[in-house]
Amino acid sequence: MAILNIDDLRAAARRRLPKPVFDYIDGAAMDEVTMGRNRADFSEIRFQPKALVDIAERSQAVTVLGQTLTTPVILSPTGLTGLYGPGGEIAVARAAKAAGAVFCLSTVSTQTIEDVAAAAPGIWFQLYVQRDRGLTKELIERAGKAGCPVLMVTVDTAVQGRRDRDIRNGFAFPPKFTPANIWHFGTKPGFLWRLATSPKLGFANFAHVPGYNMGFSAATRQANADFVRKVTWDDVAWYKSIFPGKVVLKGILHPDDAKRAADAGADGIVASNHGGRQLEGATSPIRALPRLVEAAEGRIEVILDGGIRRGGDVVKAVALGAKAVMMGRPYLYGLAAGGEAGVAQMLSIVRGEIDTTLALLGCPRLPEADPTFLEDQGRPWPANR
Ligand SMILES: Cc1cc2nc3c(=O)[nH]c(=O)nc-3n(C[C@H](O)[C@H](O)[C@H](O)COP(=O)(O)O)c2cc1C
Repeated sequence: MAILNIDDLRAAARRRLPKPVFDYIDGAAMDEVTMGRNRADFSEIRFQPKALVDIAERSQAVTVLGQTLTTPVILSPTGLTGLYGPGGEIAVARAAKAAGAVFCLSTVSTQTIEDVAAAAPGIWFQLYVQRDRGLTKELIERAGKAGCPVLMVTVDTAVQGRRDRDIRNGFAFPPKFTPANIWHFGTKPGFLWRLATSPKLGFANFAHVPGYNMGFSAATRQANADFVRKVTWDDVAWYKSIFPGKVVLKGILHPDDAKRAADAGADGIVASNHGGRQLEGATSPIRALPRLVEAAEGRIEVILDGGIRRGGDVVKAVALGAKAVMMGRPYLYGLAAGGEAGVAQMLSIVRGEIDTTLALLGCPRLPEADPTFLEDQGRPWPANR
């Protein structure tokens, strides 16, 4: 089947991956209502195109946190990326760079900050604050030394969300050998062959830390034990004092927190509910966005993360005040379907869709998209009026 859009890439990923692995990427918390709304709420917003505009020359370049992206997409941090497709984080970072986008590397990556930054200079780094403050400091310093211009601190994971698909599948490392899992993994020999013939997967950034360097299952146990995290507003100044670049907070939905982030000295916030994987019932980022932008009062930049599956969604987010957007699962589908080329294909699809949308909307330059291009100024929800 020809791959025309992100849903086609998702179907291709589903064919390649054992069910528990596909479900880990594709799933979300509990009934997955929040994940569904992240996407559905984009379709609530309708364009109001302007006619007879000269659209011969179009640009989708944006400037975010002092950096110009010719494709306005930051690939969201995802843990264990090397598990899902060939080349892992380095493949993703390279494809992003080649497209003029950027990759934000997760703390729990399977390749080190240094290796990924060497392969694709300019990557951003996502921080999961560790219980051990010294280890947290070390991760921030390593990201700074590796030349990452942005540190993205994830703030919506005080505890791990309940993901029913993963619990039902017994998603674990090594996989639990139930009859169902023997079937799921046994029917995907290509996946098993890749794992068997690639360097051993682990939490690469922690290779020197006791508890993490004893194989994948011990490391997973250690990571779970470390999961309860205390992240407070006071720490923002501390991150800023250690990290030479910009500091942004990922996982903000409350307008009061947008104000607090600015007061605390952050450079930006990411409107995000972790792709619906954490607090089931949380509002969607696109719905929260106008309130966050208003509360930010231009003091900090706002990025939108979650639910984007079409180029038009990107345009809607920018029209409502996002400087750029982030996408997670779509590039993982691409990686699973075709490695680096699959991620490049995902970005090319989104670029093409953004371009068509800008042309038909009568808005040749993406940063000039504003609420006047949206019916009712993009506020279809009574609560927002
Ligand atoms: C498999 C997977 C792993 C993830 N791991 C992380 C992570 O390590 N750190 C983090 O801040 N967010 C993580 N996220 C959340 C993403 O960064 C992002 O918020 C989410 O995928 C956005 O929603 P989308 O998939 O609809 O684009 C993960 C998401 C997925 C799907």
